[in-house]
Amino acid sequence: MVKIAFFDTKEYDRNLFDEYNKNYGYEITYLESKLNSETAPLAKGFDVVCIFVNDIVDEKTIQILKEDKVKLIALRCAGFNNVDIKKLGDNLAAVRVPEYSPYAVAEHAVALILSIDRKIYKAYQRTKKYNFTLNGLLGFDIHGKTVGVIGAGKIGRAFINIMNGFGTRVLAYDKFQNEDLAKEMNFEYVDLNTLYRKSDIISLHCPLTDENYKMINEEALSKMKDGVVLINTSRGKLIDTKSLIKKLQEGKIGGLGLDVYEDEEEFFLNDMSNSYVRDEELSILLTMPNVVVTSHQAFFTKEALNKIALDTCENIKEFFETGDCKNKV
Ligand code: NAI
Repeated sequence: MVKIAFFDTKEYDRNLFDEYNKNYGYEITYLESKLNSETAPLAKGFDVVCIFVNDIVDEKTIQILKEDKVKLIALRCAGFNNVDIKKLGDNLAAVRVPEYSPYAVAEHAVALILSIDRKIYKAYQRTKKYNFTLNGLLGFDIHGKTVGVIGAGKIGRAFINIMNGFGTRVLAYDKFQNEDLAKEMNFEYVDLNTLYRKSDIISLHCPLTDENYKMINEEALSKMKDGVVLINTSRGKLIDTKSLIKKLQEGKIGGLGLDVYEDEEEFFLNDMSNSYVRDEELSILLTMPNVVVTSHQAFFTKEALNKIALDTCENIKEFFETGDCKNKV
């Protein structure tokens, strides 16, 4: 029987995986700890470690997993920037769930845009207190605006579709361009500088790689339109937070929606409300009047969670039956 050490478990993971596992019969041990080089010894005696976005599989962790004869890292997410793939070598593989619901993430990006633009987060707090004034809630029409999409992959395309419905002009930057797709989906590929210069709203949908680490730095932010609305539902380390704060304080950025944060690992998905541990930059962002932060929530729909559980179970099955898997990274 395949033995799985399930790291960073939340109640919803456990409920769903227990349900799906009725068809697979894996021996799953649920652990609350995140996987990293300190907790890696917990995986001793298991065949698989099942991990999420904030578990850190660096060279040292990989070495421990290999010594303990773990054979597979099953990521229950799409992004795999938290695993040092080049160091895996032989006898340890990683699989992921490349597509569970691009709509979930794209729709969350749109929710952030609307919340910021129409000040829903402020209005909600006001009306709860029986304050029905409109001062400070002025928004803008999204219709007719230019939207810049960085990364026109599965999520980027789902996002473009929604933006087309709003009647926007969509510009996209992607490392790999597909002109037929652009024609069919009514968007235009541009270089990054043009995207920065022309977009009223910019949404990040590319993976985090060595190449684009902190691509949204001071220089990039300076090129953007005054009052730009910036949305990141992709990975926190695509943005240099220090520069972001500087530009927010200068009034350059009209609105900021973050579902991911540069140093989210210790905080996101955890209840830190009673803890004295605080992240200075995150705290500054949270006090800004035009910033909405959600806690890596974009994937969190029923449809996405079900697909993640099913595909993770299937990935493990395929790997142990054939020695390979179509979703290997
Ligand atoms: P995908 O692989 O379908 O698309 C990514 C696109 O980005 C591709 O078209 C690729 O050519 C492009 N790309 C790669 N490097 C680039 C670069 N340096 N500059 C511009 N474009 C580049 O991936 P998908 O499914 O659309 O996911 C995108 C990202 O969204 C994931 O890598 C992950 O980081 C993030 N994500 C966030 C979630 C959340 O809950 N907040 C959930 C799922 C994914």
